[in-house]
Amino acid sequence: MFKDRLRKLVSLLSTWKIDGVVLVPGPNLRYLTGINMHTSERPTLAFFPAQGAPALVLPLLEAQGLPEDVRSEVHLFSYTDEEGPQDAVAAAAAALQLSGKRLGVEFLHMRVMELKRLEQAAGDCHILAFEAFLQELRACKDENELEEMRRAVRITEEALSSTIAQVRPGQTEQEIATELRLAMFRAGAEDVAFVITVAGPRTASPHASASSRPVQPGDVLIVDCGAVYGGYVADITRTFAIGEIPAELEDVYAVVKAANEAGREAARPGARAQDVDRAARQVIMEAGYGEYFIHRTGHGLGLEVHEPPYIVEGNEERLRPGMTFTVEPGIYIPGLGGVRIEDDVVVTVSSSETLTTHPRDLIHL
Ligand code: CO
Ligand code: CO
Repeated sequence: MFKDRLRKLVSLLSTWKIDGVVLVPGPNLRYLTGINMHTSERPTLAFFPAQGAPALVLPLLEAQGLPEDVRSEVHLFSYTDEEGPQDAVAAAAAALQLSGKRLGVEFLHMRVMELKRLEQAAGDCHILAFEAFLQELRACKDENELEEMRRAVRITEEALSSTIAQVRPGQTEQEIATELRLAMFRAGAEDVAFVITVAGPRTASPHASASSRPVQPGDVLIVDCGAVYGGYVADITRTFAIGEIPAELEDVYAVVKAANEAGREAARPGARAQDVDRAARQVIMEAGYGEYFIHRTGHGLGLEVHEPPYIVEGNEERLRPGMTFTVEPGIYIPGLGGVRIEDDVVVTVSSSETLTTHPRDLIHL
């Protein structure tokens, strides 16, 4: 259990006059307790009351794997497959006297199944969206968290380098993606968060997934990937040329690279999130490609691949030391192809540091 983080949570609860927060397995629970579980059809609910010890409703078979300090500091309500969860949820709700209380939950993570069981057990409770407060707690990473992120970045880059060194015309996008996943695990990844490998005209679609199309000379190849280490993710994109590519894409590449640099340069404490977006976008607009930059410049990164701060026009949030996010401008021209260059940045006390180091000059494979 992370006592400092729990203390901050409890003070948030009193600030917002909320009686407790109920979490499901995921990044927030992992952040507060170190519990690393996945949601399944057997519900798990973690109760953090404003006063008193936390309680955990979970399947009996998961109880054995809990960290020792969690077992000793949390009131456990386990249930067997035969019993099902409802009596355990009811017992926890009764012990914590949740009836009629104001309870914060995660709108992005809690499923209808958990919500209904909670409402049934804690009659007349008031359910409030608490996600934003939890994400705010997680926004500034400490040295330990940054160490995990650096490791995730190193693993991802090692895998990226070894994979692209073996790319040959005729290999399919899916084959390249499979190699990359394997390489991340070999390099020490706890998990692979995602892999996108797209080549040729489909690179004009930022979130296209790998297909069975073989890569061929003249293609650009976009590789966007992230390994997980200690729960923390990396997120890097590089665009490669298979042999010689159309001259316009070479030009587009230079523009995106300059936009990436401008965005990272604008990342510093006190700047607004939208300032980073504006800095990158201005380079692309001035080059005449503004209408082809069809997404925000970046997103926060940590225990989740997408989390605040969102680097987008309209977000006036001030950047603070320890915030980590991506800078990933792109230009996507239908019928021709796309280029994206994505780096991970941490705001420092005086400026910012780019965690990702893979070369940004266009590499011809
Ligand atoms: Co990415
Ligand atoms: Co990203």
